[in-house]
Amino acid sequence: MVESGTLNLKKQNPLAAPPSTAAQRGKSGDLNLKKQNLTVAITGASGAGYARKLLRSIPRRKYDVHLVSSEAGRLVYELETGVALSDDLPPEVCTYEETDFAAPLASGSFPCAGMVIVPCTMGALGAIASGLSQNLIHRAADVCLKERRPLILVPRETPLNRIHLANMLKAAEAGAIILPAMPGFYHKPGCVQDLIDFVVARILDQLGVEHNLVAPWRGLESGS
Ligand SMILES: Cc1cc2nc3c(=O)[nH]c(=O)nc-3n(C[C@H](O)[C@H](O)[C@H](O)COP(=O)(O)O)c2cc1C
Repeated sequence: MVESGTLNLKKQNPLAAPPSTAAQRGKSGDLNLKKQNLTVAITGASGAGYARKLLRSIPRRKYDVHLVSSEAGRLVYELETGVALSDDLPPEVCTYEETDFAAPLASGSFPCAGMVIVPCTMGALGAIASGLSQNLIHRAADVCLKERRPLILVPRETPLNRIHLANMLKAAEAGAIILPAMPGFYHKPGCVQDLIDFVVARILDQLGVEHNLVAPWRGLESGS
């Protein structure tokens, strides 16, 4: 005979409210309690700070974050932030090697709310625009396009040659959102972090992720 207390025999209260009632909703009243997957990729363009801030701005209570970085991405990240990417990740970020073609992200059957490549090199842009799928970053992006999921590319290069411009158009025509790392100045940034926040806010807007990084523009009358 099993002594009471040795097993968790706590009875379900039949009168307890069923799931999805107000008592079990989040503060915002959100009914969707199941977390969604989001993919973030870091390639070797300048702008590691954008990736750093994005990884810290995605709410973990709503999203599981899957991160892939290229070798050049890790090099530039360390050069620009002074810390190795592997030592600078917020908790609970799931990381993959760029050579891991067997990763869940490589398949359309893996449910994913979208992908951001930030910063995105001209090389990664070109590979994606051409459907090359040479590494897990390109493949995961290709999957997003074929599954009609949001793919946000944050390219950084200047000046742009004809090939860069043609690849951006090609990727956009295939369904990608081209969101260049081009901060605005009308919110009167006071420091580099303000410029980074501006771009990250635009990325989060595209993903439909709530944030309070930059106040929305309310027109000239508001005095903002
Ligand atoms: C310090 C540094 C900054 C770079 N900045 C850029 C850049 O802004 N845009 C870009 O397209 N490539 C840039 N590159 C070159 C890429 O890192 C290089 O083309 C690399 O092969 C890209 O590989 P990936 O697409 O696999 O990350 C930079 C390289 C270094 C070392």
